[in-house]
Amino acid sequence: MKTYKIAVLKGDGIGPEIVDEAIKVLDAVAEKEGINFEFNEYLIGGSAVDVFDNPCPDETIKGCLNSDAILFGSIGGPKWDKLPKEKRPESGLLKLRKSLGLFANIRPAIIFDELVNASTLKPEVIKGVDLTVVRELTGGIYFGEPRYKDDNKAYNTMIYTREEIEKIAHVAFKEASKRNKKVTSVDKANVLEVSELWREVVEEVAKNYPDVELEHMYVDNAAMQLIRDPKQFDVILTGNIFGDILSDEASMIVGSIGLLPSASIGGKVGLFEPIHGSAPDIAGQGIANPIATILSASMMLDYLDEKKAADRIKKSIKKVLADGYRTKDLSSFDAKEIVTTSEMGSLIAENASN
Ligand code: NAD
Ligand code: IPM
Ligand code: MN
Repeated sequence: MKTYKIAVLKGDGIGPEIVDEAIKVLDAVAEKEGINFEFNEYLIGGSAVDVFDNPCPDETIKGCLNSDAILFGSIGGPKWDKLPKEKRPESGLLKLRKSLGLFANIRPAIIFDELVNASTLKPEVIKGVDLTVVRELTGGIYFGEPRYKDDNKAYNTMIYTREEIEKIAHVAFKEASKRNKKVTSVDKANVLEVSELWREVVEEVAKNYPDVELEHMYVDNAAMQLIRDPKQFDVILTGNIFGDILSDEASMIVGSIGLLPSASIGGKVGLFEPIHGSAPDIAGQGIANPIATILSASMMLDYLDEKKAADRIKKSIKKVLADGYRTKDLSSFDAKEIVTTSEMGSLIAENASN
């Protein structure tokens, strides 16, 4: 029987609640598909600060490198917001991504037909949406030097090298080749030099993919177009900060931020996490939607080349939604029954073993 070593980084806030449900579903699927998971937990974020005074201990990085894949929950919370930057949970996640070389973050936003009435947008605008954001994850303004703050002045640097842009552009064009063959590269080339270079390099990379259509869009327009007509998009290729913002926006097309998964790839070991954060406002209440994390586990199975197991999870989620079960974030619409985080996980696990 094939055994996969999975590093489990639950993190803070709702992190442990949602990751537990993903593990429940993975175990159910494993039994059905004749595979085996060895889950090893490591600390990250605030929970690592509390124990090691370090939001990303070496032991966590080593554990991740020694695994086949990483399942990640979420980090952060008010308890740690006042710490110096390097001690903050968010710095731990950024260090982890950088240390593991995870430069490409894939964030699919695919609407479930069962949820077309759950979005705040009109059903005819969103039915059939199937787009994916390819976000550069280890560069840009998040990591650019110099960076500085005193009481009167602060700055950051948005920087991209040709090589960084080439790498992420290839990921986006390869993704589009497998999908609807369109890349929308999002930038701010009317103002920023870094975006001028981004455009030039993306155009050069595009020549290697003659079947894929390339369009450029300014980020402000992209934010508007996503709401006006999201079906025009196939693959959105963009930098670190624009991708962060546009993917949260895209989650509301689909109905809830609790539905959007992600894969961070490019290094030796892939990391799979929901796009949302630790949701301190609802942590501990058993109402968080675990589907983004369960879908991230499905992306992890695809990455491990366990396609049947990955599809089994997606089908099961569809069935549970079709049966009218919803967590509270989707409750004001057409729910038959509102369920807790753990009930949602159990329903998906049960259906996945049928
Ligand atoms: P957030 O994504 O945690 O929450 C935003 C809103 O969405 C909240 O109202 C929350 O209750 C809701 N929400 C999020 N996930 C949900 C789910 N699964 N089910 C139902 N509702 C959900 O963003 P925030 O409030 O801006 O940040 C909170 C903390 O999380 C901060 O410390 C931030 O730095 C951190 N954060 C971490 C990650 C990560 O771990 N990758 C991502 C984003 C934010
Ligand atoms: C995300 C988060 C992180 C980011 C933060 C917590 C560092 O918002 O994963 O989207 O900005 O990348
Ligand atoms: Mn974010």
